[in-house]
Amino acid sequence: MNKEDVRKRICLALDVDSLALAKEIIKESYEYVGTYKIGKELFVSEGTSSIKIPQSFERDVFLDLKFHDIPNTVENASKALVKHNIKMFTIHSMGGSEMIQAAVRGVNDGVIKYGKIRPMILGVTILTSHDRNSLKDILIDKSFDTALVSYAKIASENGCDGVICSPKDINVLRPYINRKILYVTPGVRLRDDKFSDQKRVCTPEEAIVNGASIIVVGRSILESKNRIEILKKIYKEVEKGLKEDNIF
Ligand code: C5P
Repeated sequence: MNKEDVRKRICLALDVDSLALAKEIIKESYEYVGTYKIGKELFVSEGTSSIKIPQSFERDVFLDLKFHDIPNTVENASKALVKHNIKMFTIHSMGGSEMIQAAVRGVNDGVIKYGKIRPMILGVTILTSHDRNSLKDILIDKSFDTALVSYAKIASENGCDGVICSPKDINVLRPYINRKILYVTPGVRLRDDKFSDQKRVCTPEEAIVNGASIIVVGRSILESKNRIEILKKIYKEVEKGLKEDNIF
């Protein structure tokens, strides 16, 4: 397996609040990471300049702002983000089919307007921090899997390129999704890690074996005293889990 094949499956969540720290982390890790995820913390702290750092190391950017708003707002935001040459971004499937179609329209218009790459749209199904009980709090009284499948179908049938789900969810979803999409999975922990607020977790190897296209890891690496040692462990597990037939 060549290095590029392994690292393109690994996304590091840059959940930090400064460009300086983000840069330090990228510098030490980019050999093992294909994509860096910029989420609310870094984006709110440092704005669009945060997008440029992974790009300066020739790595992809996943902008994880999880849009969920009226269709017109999501359409315009999706169009505007095309300017930044990002690889993928998230919207909440809970926003419904009209909102998802608006995001697709926005991206298509943005590609024409700015002449940049087309970012992939990922629909968040159910956050990996939710379980059956916490879904009740938000008035979802269907079974967990029914809700999960429904959000993934809304995403895939309205033009998303992939979904965000737990690595545990992929086998539940596959029979219902009738086209090739990306399964991007947070909720990944090494065997001895603490789960923190993540409830439905797998190890990196299990995630890849289950069919994850890209695994997203944050705190296991960021909170470690030796980030690169943890990252190398994750890389080795991904390499082990990868087989020719599950390369996306
Ligand atoms: O630190 P940890 O590995 O749990 O980080 C997971 C990252 O993935 C966080 O940035 C979180 O916002 C994001 N995420 C998630 N669950 C989703 C979607 C995104 O944990 N369903």
